[in-house]
Amino acid sequence: MGRRTVDVEDRWWRDAVLYQVYPRSWADANGDGVGDLRGIRSRLDHLVWLGVDALWLSPIQPSPMADFGYDISDHTEVHPVYGDLGDLDDLVAAAHQRDLRMVLDYVPNHTSDHHPWFVAARSSRTDPHRDFYVWRDPAPDGGPPNNWRSRFGGGPAWTLDEATGQYWLHSFLPEQPDLDWRNDAVQAAMTDVLRFWMRRGIDGFRVDVAHRIVKDARLRNNPPNPDWEPGMSDDRRVVEHYSRNWPDVHAVHRLLRATVEEFDDPPRLLAGEVNLAPPEWAAYFGDDDEFHLPFNFHSIVDLPWTPSAVAGLVEDVERAVPDRSWPSWILSNHDKPRFPSRIGREFACQALVLLLTARGTPVLYYGDELALGDTDVPPEAVQDPWGHQVPGEGRDPERTPMPWDATPTAGFCPAGVAPWLPLGSDAITRNVATQSEDPSSPLQLVRDLLALRRQRRSLRRGSIHVRATTDHALAWERRAGDEVTVVLASFADHDTVVDLPGHHDLLRSTRIDRRGRVVDHVELGPHEAVVMEPVEPATD
Ligand code: NOJ
Repeated sequence: MGRRTVDVEDRWWRDAVLYQVYPRSWADANGDGVGDLRGIRSRLDHLVWLGVDALWLSPIQPSPMADFGYDISDHTEVHPVYGDLGDLDDLVAAAHQRDLRMVLDYVPNHTSDHHPWFVAARSSRTDPHRDFYVWRDPAPDGGPPNNWRSRFGGGPAWTLDEATGQYWLHSFLPEQPDLDWRNDAVQAAMTDVLRFWMRRGIDGFRVDVAHRIVKDARLRNNPPNPDWEPGMSDDRRVVEHYSRNWPDVHAVHRLLRATVEEFDDPPRLLAGEVNLAPPEWAAYFGDDDEFHLPFNFHSIVDLPWTPSAVAGLVEDVERAVPDRSWPSWILSNHDKPRFPSRIGREFACQALVLLLTARGTPVLYYGDELALGDTDVPPEAVQDPWGHQVPGEGRDPERTPMPWDATPTAGFCPAGVAPWLPLGSDAITRNVATQSEDPSSPLQLVRDLLALRRQRRSLRRGSIHVRATTDHALAWERRAGDEVTVVLASFADHDTVVDLPGHHDLLRSTRIDRRGRVVDHVELGPHEAVVMEPVEPATD
């Protein structure tokens, strides 16, 4: 079948704001302390009120939860903790009724070790599913076949199956055996998974660790990392030359893209987690035949929050994104500290303005709209396997329940129920109900910015030009035809003045009390960001 081309203008995600829901933590309808699909459905109107266009759910499929859903044991079912396929159908229908698109996580690099494919594969060397996974004989000394390390800090990326005498490859936990995408049968089975969900009305996918799913066919040793020192995480002992970003991976992404293009009403989104810096990352657009949106997160997490670093990243991304392709921006997700904890709470509103006005599709992580920070999770409450293996490295602090209101369970679960992870100690003040009453809150700022995006094509589709940076401030201009929007952000903890010739009307500031017109220069308060429109000077 030939490729169908969807006009760039019809690609709904270019205008959209995506919102990531971590299903365990958003809304618990059945009172077991863990979020679920009925809970998500009951809160959809929050997303409508806020003005987002699509929700992306982290994995909801059956899983032993060794990695909280990123270890799938049945690709075409729903984990009972979240509900069933009927609940998912109801959620999709309710979302579509509200013009919200539904995006699911898709985890192609590995399955759970409980997946029937792996159970069969492990049963004997001659099982028909054996080659769904990567098996190798021990090295001559009986040890692992090569020096690759598991990403979760726990030693080799190989575990020996005593019964069949071979090692299986796992880039992550031993409970997450890697699939072998060089096997046509894996390609057929896994693309059928995409078709299954698209037939159920799913509007797109976020592909987990997209840059890892094909490795060097010869499984050569990775070079040692000359910069590794004791105290650094174990997986950094080697440079991951042969085990990720291997050139053959792109053929698989072209296959995934062709698969989502079999369904074109509406066009389906293929987004991917591509944890690489801009030049390598941009290769995952392919020739507009791989990802629509390779999520650009890696470079932001390590970014010092300064005007020159942020401007430099935007310019690097703009240089790297091919002409027909489209960037995306993310500040937080379920794997890294939330952005207010990472860059400093005082920058939170300013950072939200930058996220929502840069060129590209923004992705909000649940709670970003409240400027939620990380929650302290005491050792006895740790849930993340990574946190158990490497104390302090766990991802629980950024996965705690969504605070909806000022009640003792924050509206996340019924009264008297203990949530699976503790609520933030500030949930009593930092919650949806409280912030929706407060015009100066991050929540109202995000809502106003999303409304501005809908009104202003320059913010949605316009070009971006980083106009000027000083030690203290950053400016960018978005332009679509005659419509121009100017964004200015202060990084200083004191008042600062930015020269800006001409007259500008203020559309929104992080300070709600600021209104009116500025002429030739802008006085910004500490960490203030403003969105403005150039105007003709008034004539008498
Ligand atoms: C990336 C996911 O975002 C993370 O949560 C997961 O642990 C790994 N991939 C393994 O699937």
